[in-house]
Amino acid sequence: MTHSQQGGIEHIMATEARIPVPEAFAQQANVTAEQYREWYRESVESPDTFWDARARDFHWFTPYTQVLDWQPPFARWFVGGETNLSYNALDRHVEAGRGDKRALVWEGEGGDVREYSYAQLLEEVARTAAALTRLGVKKGDRVTIYLPMIPEATISMLACARIGAPHSVVFGGFAAGAVADRLMASGSEFVITADGGWRKGELVPLKPAVDEAARLAAAQGQPVRGVLVVQHAGQNIPMQPGRDHWWHEARGEDTQEAVPVDSEHPLFLLYTSGSTGKPKGILHTTGGYMVNVALTTHAIFDLKDSDLFWCTADVGWITGHSYSTYGPLLLGQSIFMYEGAHNHPDWGRFWDMVERHRITVLYTAPTAIRSFMRHGDETPAQYDLSSLRLLGSVGEPINPQAWHWYRRVIGGDRCPVVDTWWQTETGAVMLTTLPGVHAAEPGTAGVPMFGIVPAILNQQGEELPADEGGFLTIRQPWPSMLRTVYGDDERFRRSYYGEIEGVYFAGDGARRSEDGYVTVLGRVDDVLNVSGHRLSTAEVESALVAHPQVAEAAVVGRPDEMKGESIFAFVLPQEGETPDAAELRAYVSRQLGKVARPDHIVVAPALPKTRSGKIMRRFLRQIAAGRTIEGDTSTLDDPGVLKRLAETPVQ
Ligand code: PRX
Repeated sequence: MTHSQQGGIEHIMATEARIPVPEAFAQQANVTAEQYREWYRESVESPDTFWDARARDFHWFTPYTQVLDWQPPFARWFVGGETNLSYNALDRHVEAGRGDKRALVWEGEGGDVREYSYAQLLEEVARTAAALTRLGVKKGDRVTIYLPMIPEATISMLACARIGAPHSVVFGGFAAGAVADRLMASGSEFVITADGGWRKGELVPLKPAVDEAARLAAAQGQPVRGVLVVQHAGQNIPMQPGRDHWWHEARGEDTQEAVPVDSEHPLFLLYTSGSTGKPKGILHTTGGYMVNVALTTHAIFDLKDSDLFWCTADVGWITGHSYSTYGPLLLGQSIFMYEGAHNHPDWGRFWDMVERHRITVLYTAPTAIRSFMRHGDETPAQYDLSSLRLLGSVGEPINPQAWHWYRRVIGGDRCPVVDTWWQTETGAVMLTTLPGVHAAEPGTAGVPMFGIVPAILNQQGEELPADEGGFLTIRQPWPSMLRTVYGDDERFRRSYYGEIEGVYFAGDGARRSEDGYVTVLGRVDDVLNVSGHRLSTAEVESALVAHPQVAEAAVVGRPDEMKGESIFAFVLPQEGETPDAAELRAYVSRQLGKVARPDHIVVAPALPKTRSGKIMRRFLRQIAAGRTIEGDTSTLDDPGVLKRLAETPVQ
């Protein structure tokens, strides 16, 4: 395996003793040990039979004629079938007499609470779909959603799905530049946004970013035709006549039926960072995504009618698509949603909501768990967390210390903890333990989900022996896999099926134990994982070099106890300039958003380059981590630069 993250993940590599499945949990689990074994075998040996049986739980306007058509690397699932995800997530439950069942409970940062039953959510979605149609949105048109975590985000996604308009959700923490890039890349002419959101008691201005992004896109010949604006923060914002419409005015009483779409009709695009500066539009389609997201939610989160499931992920990320929205709704279960910061007004906020709403299943990120842990056991101890019965982790490797804290302090030593490994590209969880089946090994994600065939390979594509680190690859296609990189099949092939012949590989290293537990070791490419947010070093570098005082920049990750990784930037100034670190941080924030702001900056006298001019990041990572330089420095044009860099103050 190549190099990059090895330094940062050593602390999680020790093998931990396994924690058995609590007997009481196993007895009531949605999936039993025997069923996992049988289903897994069938899913791998006869995938058509297995997935056909799972797909029958859903409504198909036209039945499919073939389960899978696999022309590597292009897959089509449930070929010829017509369905609609919004129909399956809403109408199907209401028609089955479950309209009164709670679908969504939302709490705002200020403490206001809203609840929607399935019948009410359907009504909202159908009215929004009608409004979108009136605005001119047609089947196939891409709609950009740039909203805070409010019910209108859920409603908008489902309304798009209802009319077959693929959504492209842009994380509300991204700035205008990032919104503009995504608008242009997706060719999106419609936007749904809000007059603002709330975070730590402060207003997040969203509409001005949309205005700016629309201006940038129009300058490139791609105007935005319609903007729906949710009135949420009570702000007096400029509205552009003819283009901008208030959500509450644009929606009438009329409703729009779900439109049958082909199983392979695009459901959404989600832009994510790869190793280059240009984010990739990951394309997910309807039928396969629907079936696997529902199945994994059922098996992993064990949802039942008595549950209230809180997946804390923002809808701007894949976890917010698959598990804050689609998965639980497809199962007809209840979702909890929260807008705001996890520590507002204090570190008890999450636990206060768990107590008040009787949340039963909680799915969050290691970075949040670590920050709660740092604030001690006393805060959660003040709340009644007895409603919780299952805990999940996602987004980055979880260190055993945080895992144990989560299980003991939040889970009262009674809740199973699942550590789920997956990616934007995979659409659904790939590796985890099932809460009623597998003993959990802290720091180790676990075993493959149905239909997933992982292989730990070396660069030549040879399978490695147990316990040896290599590339984490997947051998067979699975229903919720990405179909392509939007508009760029070649980039899809190159990025995911190009590195090692015949298998899917998307950037992580891993090792596998003798009995099949997979430990994910982190990224082996130039993708950073900062507090569970995925960023490419190249993206941050291009933002930095756009600054007039910067000639060149090299960005690497530095292991960070809280964030997993922090952003470390080496910048080479333009001749005669002395860039100010605070100014550079603000500059990157304005372009990409706060998530991409460098934590550490070294104004470098020079960068370590090979004679052919390639920057040797390996050495920069060592300097950033404060480690001694290891490896062959003889290929460097000027090996002395390493010493000078290590001595330059970090700002
Ligand atoms: O490096 C892995 C890490 O997050 C990457 C995917 O990021 P993204 O597409 O933003 O999706 C995040 C949420 C699914 C992976 O390549 N990652 C995610 N979950 C885990 C993880 N690393 C280790 N353990 C996990 N449970």
